[in-house]
Amino acid sequence: MNSKENLVFLGMMGSGKSSIGSLVSKKLNIDFIDIDKKIEKRIGLKISKIFDKNGEKYFREIEEIETLKSLKNKKTVISLGGGAFLNNKIKKEILDNHISFWLNWDVKTLVNRIKDSKKRPIVHKSSRNEIEELIKKRSIIYSKAMYKIDCENLTKNEIVKKIIEIYEKS
Ligand code: S3P
Repeated sequence: MNSKENLVFLGMMGSGKSSIGSLVSKKLNIDFIDIDKKIEKRIGLKISKIFDKNGEKYFREIEEIETLKSLKNKKTVISLGGGAFLNNKIKKEILDNHISFWLNWDVKTLVNRIKDSKKRPIVHKSSRNEIEELIKKRSIIYSKAMYKIDCENLTKNEIVKKIIEIYEKS
């Protein structure tokens, strides 16, 4: 890994970006940043409350600032929020300068994980079909990541192992 690069985890809500990112950072003994947590700390509110109080546009502005700031780190594991990679500035910075992993799962698995989540304002009031469509649309953009990890038939430990193997070869 080039010393300027970070290891970035992206993908849909419920894909395990935070938990896998945290495990990988522990294994590699390097720092870990969860962007959603940084935003919650900065604003002093949970993500769902930020959406309720200030709206999505405001959240996306803070998300862009915090993500680009965190990407200035070196050799850090960074887990994005599910919508961050859709932002062109964030996407370009990641594709140009960092190692990125898309945690890919079957659409049905993701829908089952997130459909009743009150913590996730983007899908909170959506139907199954709407969530499926969102996943399919976003997957086209997530697929630009440097590495796609098909997680469906792997345990958490196997996913982490696979990522570390790729990282060590890179
Ligand atoms: C979002 C995903 C969430 C959070 C916000 C918006 C999205 O992060 O940033 O609710 O648009 O996909 P997680 O992917 O960590 O749930």
